[in-house]
Amino acid sequence: MSPSKTLYEGKAKKILKGPSKNTLIQVFKDDATAYNKKKHKIFSGKGILNNLISEHIMEHLMSKGIETHFKKRLNKREQLIKKCEIIPIEFVVRNIVAGSIAKKLGLKEGTKLKKPLLEYYYKEDSLDDPMISRDHVEAFGWATKSELKKIDKISTKINKILSSLFIKKKIVLVDFKIEFGRLTSNPKKIVLADEISPDSCRLWDKKSKKKLDKDVFRRNLGSLIKAYEEVASRLGIVQ
Ligand code: TMP
Repeated sequence: MSPSKTLYEGKAKKILKGPSKNTLIQVFKDDATAYNKKKHKIFSGKGILNNLISEHIMEHLMSKGIETHFKKRLNKREQLIKKCEIIPIEFVVRNIVAGSIAKKLGLKEGTKLKKPLLEYYYKEDSLDDPMISRDHVEAFGWATKSELKKIDKISTKINKILSSLFIKKKIVLVDFKIEFGRLTSNPKKIVLADEISPDSCRLWDKKSKKKLDKDVFRRNLGSLIKAYEEVASRLGIVQ
């Protein structure tokens, strides 16, 4: 079989042509980047762990009624996905103050928010993914008012489902980033796309508050692979 054609190569993933018109193959790489690629390192096996973790999370969300682009895992690093037109916004949901919001607002990391916070960032590396408002999304036509309303509702539901999944594993879901797309087979249908993994979430051990996510790499806190293996193991994916 000849290798599939690469359509897009990102920082941590690659998208290949799929076996049919409305499918693609998503490949998980071992690269980790932070601070808009200013920091870069390869962690052997990270892509395999993220493929497994993202598969597990997408399937869990689908079992709870969330529609996603995920079809099936093909092998260690690849999954078959439904082709989407990606909305160029990173949707961030926060439960606890950490990362950029702590820095921006001078807040202490670890402070629980009175309610989950939804934020929007315009996906544009050359601008460092600036934070934008709902009005920007509508005014620039990146998504319609009704699409945003739908996405906000789905994001809130995802937050509830995942917070509950992780807390059963003694992990606190501090925050996460998700992306959405319109299916090419049905452009009116908005689905969860991309991945959900320790690359795109902040996950803290409930008791010790030890970081089990990409902050281990961002802040040089030890072995990233060990942290991701810990998440996979607590989710029951690997021994
Ligand atoms: P932040 O605190 O740096 O804004 O990140 C919030 C959450 O979003 C955190 O879980 C990491 C995730 N995230 C990504 O997955 N990709 C990104 O490019 C950024 C900036 C954040």
